[in-house]
Amino acid sequence: MTRPAPVPVDLEDAIERLKRERDAVVLAHYYQEDEIQDIADHVGDSLALARVAARIERPVIAFCGVHFMAETAKILSPASAVVVPDLEAGCSLADGCPADAFERFVAQQRRTHPELVVISYVNCSAAVKALSDVICTSSNAVDIVRHFADKPVLFAPDQHLARWVGREAGRSDLIVWPGSCIVHEQFNARALAELRVRHPDAEVLSHPECDEPVLAQTDFIGSTKKIIDRAIASPAKTLIIGTEDGVFHQIRKTVPEKTLIQIPGMDESCSCNRCPYMRLNTMEKLYLCLRDLAPQVTVPEDIRIRALRPLERMLELSKPA
Ligand code: 13P
Ligand code: SF4
Repeated sequence: MTRPAPVPVDLEDAIERLKRERDAVVLAHYYQEDEIQDIADHVGDSLALARVAARIERPVIAFCGVHFMAETAKILSPASAVVVPDLEAGCSLADGCPADAFERFVAQQRRTHPELVVISYVNCSAAVKALSDVICTSSNAVDIVRHFADKPVLFAPDQHLARWVGREAGRSDLIVWPGSCIVHEQFNARALAELRVRHPDAEVLSHPECDEPVLAQTDFIGSTKKIIDRAIASPAKTLIIGTEDGVFHQIRKTVPEKTLIQIPGMDESCSCNRCPYMRLNTMEKLYLCLRDLAPQVTVPEDIRIRALRPLERMLELSKPA
C-alpha cells in the first residue's frame, strides 16, 4: 500500500502551487484564521462569496467557510468541484432547521396565509433553500423583506436576525422559525454595559445575529463586511465588536492604530467568540483538500435546481456591491 505524501512544511508555498496546478480558486469567509484569509483569492461575507461563486468559471473552488456556504457555491457553480477543508464545519442555524420539519411548518402557515413568501437566511441547508421563495444574507435581508411589503412573510431560521429585520423594515408580523447562532447568542450584555462605561468614546458594532440586549446597546448593526467597513471608516479610536473575531484581521490590516475589544461571552473563560465550526478549517486541511480534491460538497440535482431559483432571486434583488 502506498502512503500519501507527507504534508509539506511550507504550506503556503504548497497551497499556491496546488492552486496553479488545479486552476483552483480559494474563497474564504472573514471568520477564517488569518493565514487562510491571506492565501484566499477572495475574502468576503456570505453575499460577496455567493456573488463570486455565481460568476466564477473554474474547475475547482476550495471553499473555506462552513458547509452551507460551500453548498451555495455548488448550487451557483455546478460545473466546479467544490472542495472544503473539513466536511464537519456546519452551523447551528442550518443544523437547527431540518428540511422535513421546515416543510411541515411552511405548509401549516400556508394554510392560513396562502400568499406567504418564504424568505430564508442563507445560513440553512440546500434542502431548506429549495423550500424557500427567496434567500437573503445579513447584508440584504432588510431590503429583501421590504420588497415583499404587501405580503405575509415567513423568515427563517434566525430569530434574532428576524427581530432586527422586522424592526428595520417596519414589520411586526413576520412569522419566524426560532433558530439561533451559538456564537452570537452568547455575548454578554452586562459585560458590554460595563465596557461602555469604561470606554465612553468607543463605538459598538455588532452582527444582527446577536440577541436583543446586545443589539440594544449597539451603535452600528451589520454583516461582517459592513462591520469591517464601518470599523475602518468610524472616527472612533476604540471599537467594541460583537461578532466572530476573525473580522479583526481585515480591520487591523487597514487601521492597526485602532483598539479592538471583543464583547465577552457569558462564560468569560472560553473563546466563545470563535465559531467552533469555522475554526475546524486549517491551512493543513486546505492543502489536503486541494491535493486530494476531497472532501467535496455535492447537492442532489433536483434539490440544486429548486434551490437555485431563490438564490438567483436574492442576487437579482440585491443592490450592487
Ligand atoms: P455574514 O453574512 O455577515 O458574512 O455572516 C455569516 C455568518 O455566518 C455570521 O455568523
Ligand atoms: Fe453559523 Fe454562528 Fe458559526 Fe455563523 S458564527 S457559521 S451563524 S454557528
